[in-house]
Amino acid sequence: AFTPRVFSGIKPSGGLTLGNYLGAIKRFVDMQGGEFETIYCVVDMHAITVWQDPEDLRHATREVAAGYLAAGIDPEKSVLFNQSRVSAHAELGWLLNCVARVGWMNRMTQFKDKAGKNAENVSLGLYAYPSLMAADILLYHATHVPVGEDQKQHVELTRDIANKFNHDYKVDFFPETIPVIEGPAMRVMNLRDGTKKMSKSGESDMERVNMTDDADTIAKKFKKAKSDADVLPEEMEGLAGRPDARNLVNIYAGLSNMTGEEVLAVYGGQGWGKFKPDLAELAVEKLAPISSEMKRLMNDPAEIDRIMAKGANKANEIAQPILNKTFEIMGF
Ligand code: ADP
Ligand code: NA
Repeated sequence: AFTPRVFSGIKPSGGLTLGNYLGAIKRFVDMQGGEFETIYCVVDMHAITVWQDPEDLRHATREVAAGYLAAGIDPEKSVLFNQSRVSAHAELGWLLNCVARVGWMNRMTQFKDKAGKNAENVSLGLYAYPSLMAADILLYHATHVPVGEDQKQHVELTRDIANKFNHDYKVDFFPETIPVIEGPAMRVMNLRDGTKKMSKSGESDMERVNMTDDADTIAKKFKKAKSDADVLPEEMEGLAGRPDARNLVNIYAGLSNMTGEEVLAVYGGQGWGKFKPDLAELAVEKLAPISSEMKRLMNDPAEIDRIMAKGANKANEIAQPILNKTFEIMGF
């Protein structure tokens, strides 16, 4: 039996959004201090699968660390570190590149989306990304990985890689990791187009809420968010075919720890004139304190670096014996 252990990570490729907060960081905080050991990572080596200006990468790496800390990841309760500071990630990543099959990688929809028509000219790292992600997870024998819906396929690939390794080497060494995808905000959508995922990059800043936005900006973005002409329905089914409306209800639910049904029990039958200002107020109440704490931390980069260096030592203590054992199993 494996120790119940959570691993997850966020890429420092641009600023953090409300999608990262509700789909990932808030849930990481909720899983802390309970039945699981929790390990959270700034996956900087994943970020460079697409071009990163070195100064931007350094800044974004500290910003993700600050986001974790400001949102409530406690370095005494969780192992919090930068991926590049634990070299076992790169080493196990290579070993697993030799286990993963090209046919499996070819099925990864996120690669197809990101590479687009340009697939001949993207980095080899972008293609191998999911096998490095498998290494991130398996290096800690993590049993559970909380992620947003967009990462489900990668966690399933991790299981395939673990199973093939166990089968090929006739061992029961790597666990079958479970993706934990739950809650109302597994897919936070763009505030101007509810059919698109809210992401770090995009045409207009009004499409997303950044974790560093101040109170006025957060309120303005929700007040201007796209909704539709109908009243809010009494039941979630009434949101079918209404992506913008559904997204705003899900965000309210995620921020308030309510279900979508509970939100509609309050607002069903009403128009947007009441709901939107309430959502803006709720978002400011929940997000503005995190954003000010992030700013405070970003003014003290040495403190962030100190916390992350300590975390890397703890991560190494877990990772190194598992890497050593993997080498031994494979015949090194
Ligand atoms: P991004 O997708 O923002 O580039 P990552 O790939 O590093 O960032 O994702 C970090 C975590 O945030 C993952 O668990 C991912 O599923 C989650 N996440 C990112 N965007 C969203 C979103 N719009 N809704 C829900 N979860 C999201
Ligand atoms: Na993602």
